[in-house]
Amino acid sequence: MRLARKDIIGLKEMDKDEISLILDTSESLKEISERDIKKVPTLRGKTVINLFYEPSTRTRTSFELAGKRLNADVVNITTSNSSVVKGETLRDTVQNIEAMNPNIIVIRHSAPGVPNFIANILKSSVINAGDGAHEHPTQALLDLYTIREKKGRLEGLKVAIIGDIAHSRVARSNIYGMHKMGMDVTVAGAATMMPLHIERMGVKVTTDIDKAIEGVDVIMMLRIQMERQMGNLFPSLREYSRLFGLNLDRLKRAKEDVIIMHPGPVNRGVEISPEVADGPHSLILDQVTNGVAVRMALLYLLAGGFEVSSKE
Ligand code: CP
Repeated sequence: MRLARKDIIGLKEMDKDEISLILDTSESLKEISERDIKKVPTLRGKTVINLFYEPSTRTRTSFELAGKRLNADVVNITTSNSSVVKGETLRDTVQNIEAMNPNIIVIRHSAPGVPNFIANILKSSVINAGDGAHEHPTQALLDLYTIREKKGRLEGLKVAIIGDIAHSRVARSNIYGMHKMGMDVTVAGAATMMPLHIERMGVKVTTDIDKAIEGVDVIMMLRIQMERQMGNLFPSLREYSRLFGLNLDRLKRAKEDVIIMHPGPVNRGVEISPEVADGPHSLILDQVTNGVAVRMALLYLLAGGFEVSSKE
């Protein structure tokens, strides 16, 4: 099966077969990162440009490593060191980058819709590395990969996504992806951090996180997105932690084999206690490891255009 698309903009428009193909391809590429010499010639002569208008540690580094491990030429552009600070527009910036003939542009931007906008004006493939509170598709793909790797399946699993849902592109992409893979999703958190009409996305909604974590297979904690909040949405960090944070005491209510996830960066002691973040149920660092494999798969499928058979 071939990934029949030029760009990766979001999981809303992706179907189950495409997601399965990406996860299967990630599985076959993961072992390259476990070798002594972490490099294969697959994308030799291809060019990947990382264009980040917002800060990133995990996403940018893993896209860079993914490209380099497949032997692509990778160029990182941080907008604070670019001509964006001289007032160059987004359209001019991406058209000038495209004039240098890259194969793939990976973009992160604070405005929802930017990856889609540039995908429509460029011949290069575009990968959305997070656009405002809209989507973060590569994060959701690595989350799905990590859950499948640990649980052996996705279909039928129950997930609680807890925290600042309103400002979370990770939650949005995961809800789309999890539903396509046959998973059951509950979102939980403060009413002030819950988007209006979120139930229209087909999720269960609660403000009681003790109730949300009972009986689920996966708990995904989300960071409070201070940079996207317009006002005070909770009285204090201490109060937030007491009502909505995941700690060892609260974890006793969850299933014995529950897995704990967090996309990072973590606010330790706010949405998750250090004991839980570093504890035996936590897959937070596995998510980061798998992020490289998933991003290798996406670069491979977009720049290579190879046929890879899906297991499902
Ligand atoms: N999860 C995630 O997107 O992390 P970064 O902001 O560090 O890329």
